[in-house]
Amino acid sequence: MAKLLFQFAVLFALLAYACATPTLCTKPVPPSAALHPPCFVPDTISPGAQAYLKTHHATPRAPWNDKAAAKREIAAYSAALAPQSAAAAAQFLQDIRNETMGGVPVTIGTPRGMKQQNADKIIVFAHAGAFLKGSCHTMWHHTAMTAYLAGVKVLCFEYSLTSEATFPIQLNEALAVFKALISNNRYKPENIALWGASAGGGLVPALLMQAQQQKLPLPAALLLMSPWGDMTKSGDTMTTLNGYDPMLQYELTLQQPAMAYVNGDAKLLQDVRVSPLKAGIEAFKKFPPTLTQIGLRDSFLSQAIMMHRKLRAAGVDASFSPWEGMWHIFQGENQLPEAQEAHHENAAFLVKHLKLAARSE
Ligand SMILES: *[C@@H]1O[C@H](CO)[C@@H](O)[C@H](O)[C@H]1NC(C)=O
Repeated sequence: MAKLLFQFAVLFALLAYACATPTLCTKPVPPSAALHPPCFVPDTISPGAQAYLKTHHATPRAPWNDKAAAKREIAAYSAALAPQSAAAAAQFLQDIRNETMGGVPVTIGTPRGMKQQNADKIIVFAHAGAFLKGSCHTMWHHTAMTAYLAGVKVLCFEYSLTSEATFPIQLNEALAVFKALISNNRYKPENIALWGASAGGGLVPALLMQAQQQKLPLPAALLLMSPWGDMTKSGDTMTTLNGYDPMLQYELTLQQPAMAYVNGDAKLLQDVRVSPLKAGIEAFKKFPPTLTQIGLRDSFLSQAIMMHRKLRAAGVDASFSPWEGMWHIFQGENQLPEAQEAHHENAAFLVKHLKLAARSE
């Protein structure tokens, strides 16, 4: 009997030990986990956002040097986004104008009901798409609502995609547009805000660092949505959100576009002009007031936090806006209450730092 009790005690102790021992990481989650919609959807987000999480997952990118695949991807992405983009443009913009600035094609959207006092102010937007895809004309759903609510023009510059040109062309194009904007007093630097989404959210801090080195005057504000600040597999959530982020997974969706951006030269991914998050705190010291929006289901969450900490350490007036359960650039889903709230937040930030005349209605 005593022996039996002893055996039970040993068994119980073993079981208790097995349950208490962390089993995390004994089986790393494979990239393929991201090929299915997340297995958990919280009830703390809007029904529309829950539906999005239930139906979206990563789609793998082709090898970085497959230009034909890149062209197909660009066409498919543009076709998929065009209706959302056109709807946002129709709802929020009164005018869209194409021009060339510093040799770079740009498109300027003027919001409906813009006050004349705001006409000498502008937001400069670098779009998302991993430098692989996306265009100004198919991404109004990322910008138009904010421009409308803030009552200010938005200029999107059409940087070269990686199937056409690679780093540092995109950075040079960004600089050329910024220089053209401030030359001949066309826009005062204090009347310009920079704005970047995803890949554009890495390009714009790199632009600010270059502008600083070239002793150019700096703009009044910086807005970042889901910024891709480091093109290496950097940050805790790049691993821990694998299978929970409904869009991104490093090996599947980011690594090949990153390699395309540096034209296959992996060493360049360490360069602060490619991965500005790798820059020291000193490089952020002159940054203007910055607002970063990021969702808790975005693999870039860690990178956004690290960028924010550097900005804070550098003494920048930096605000961090994390979003429960939201994914990469959720702001584009204009019908979701979360997206609408985010656009209102963007607009309030711009009204404050560009000293915009508020909307009357
Ligand atoms: C601007 O350029 C885009 C892309 O080339 C084109 O689709 C659009 O129609 C142009 N818009 C205007 C107002 O010219």
